Amino acid sequence: MRGYLVAIFLSAVFLYYVLHCILWGANVYWVPPVEMKRRNKIQTCLSKPAFASLLRFQQFHPFLCAADFKKVASFYDNDKFDLPYGTRTSAEYFRLALSKLQSCDLFDEFDNVPCKKCVVVGNGGVLKNKTLGETIDSYDVIIRMNNGPVLGHEEEVGRRTTFRLFYPESVFSDPKHSDPNTTAILTAFKPHDLKWLWELLTGGKINTNGFWKKPGLNLIYKPYQIRILDPYIIRMAAYELLNFPKVFPKSQKPKHPTTGIIAITLAFHICHEVHLAGFKYNFSDLKSPLHYYGNATMSLMSQNAYHNVTAEQLFLKDIIEKNFVINLTQD
Ligand SMILES: *[C@@H]1O[C@H](CO)[C@@H](O)[C@H](O)[C@H]1NC(C)=O
Ligand SMILES: *[C@@H]1O[C@H](CO)[C@@H](O)[C@H](O)[C@H]1NC(C)=O
Ligand SMILES: *[C@@H]1O[C@H](CO)[C@@H](O)[C@H](O)[C@H]1NC(C)=O
Ligand SMILES: *[C@@H]1O[C@H](CO)[C@@H](O)[C@H](O)[C@H]1NC(C)=O
Ligand SMILES: *[C@@H]1O[C@H](CO)[C@@H](O)[C@H](O)[C@H]1NC(C)=O
Ligand SMILES: *[C@@H]1O[C@H](CO)[C@@H](O)[C@H](O)[C@H]1NC(C)=O
Repeated sequence: MRGYLVAIFLSAVFLYYVLHCILWGANVYWVPPVEMKRRNKIQTCLSKPAFASLLRFQQFHPFLCAADFKKVASFYDNDKFDLPYGTRTSAEYFRLALSKLQSCDLFDEFDNVPCKKCVVVGNGGVLKNKTLGETIDSYDVIIRMNNGPVLGHEEEVGRRTTFRLFYPESVFSDPKHSDPNTTAILTAFKPHDLKWLWELLTGGKINTNGFWKKPGLNLIYKPYQIRILDPYIIRMAAYELLNFPKVFPKSQKPKHPTTGIIAITLAFHICHEVHLAGFKYNFSDLKSPLHYYGNATMSLMSQNAYHNVTAEQLFLKDIIEKNFVINLTQD
């Protein structure tokens, strides 16, 4: 009797699965995209990173791929949130931009380091007059952001760049900053950002309306170097790491995590060990340099209504105290 019941139960489960696949037109063999690399042989790091407890998916592919964009979006609930934390209402823009990219791979095919040691280099003025360049260059993976230059600052910040996160208003446009070894990651905050990338890659006219600052009008990166960050990473940074509310009061501008925190969240998903350099704001001196380059001062950051710097500082303090990361700009 029990054998019958088990058999009936199993065939019911099987039938349900088959029907589900037929009804939803899904590929029966499709499995969630949890592997870190799409094409390469799988290099899994067996030991757990210190910050593993913060992650919901231990093996998450951080870049969107044209081929399975829709499936991935629904698997990770990206289709339930609007930009910048999801793809709902902008799926067509994502699809267009992705159609012009040549790869969504994480590391190149010759990469064979299973447990990556990474450094996330913030653009903070704290890097000025420090000589961390050689130390930074010694990591497996070096993540930089926006227009923080390497050129002319090699002693302070090193020469190598594995990943650089950018958005249209922050991207380099001077070809002197090109580096064929860098993978440039678009962090999309609004539909315009994807449209901008698509227009640049198709050689169309760039519509510069809808940006808070003039966007780059040419790309110094070749299509093979460009990726689009999965908005899940930004959502994770906002809701799970910075504990942003799901809805902001009408009187406030909705806050976004800074690129620095997004870069750390990305590092948590692809690295085994994460070190930080250049993450520091000194609000007690509004005239102190904001970045290790240029002339901007802290006063610029304190006026910023789009970020919650308090929440970010609490988060950084917490992950440093818990030894999830190491602060290289420690005196
Ligand atoms: C860096 O060094 C230069 C020259 O020694 C000095 O003028 C400048 O004030 C220093 N900057 C910082 C942020 O310490
Ligand atoms: C890029 O990588 C090649 C091969 O590893 C290396 O020879 C070259 O110096 C690198 N260029 C930069 C700018 O890092
Ligand atoms: C911030 O800047 C002030 C003024 O330059 C300085 O006295 C103070 O030590 C700095 N604070 C930190 C935490 O570096
Ligand atoms: C910063 O200020 C100096 C001196 O005022 C000026 O020569 C330089 O061009 C400025 N740099 C930038 C990036 O604006
Ligand atoms: C910023 O974050 C802190 C800490 O999570 C929170 O107490 C504060 O209300 C937030 N401020 C704004 C303006 O959202
Ligand atoms: C890293 O260490 C430096 C020096 O002690 C400190 O000023 C800075 O605030 C630290 N960074 C963070 C994010 O706590």
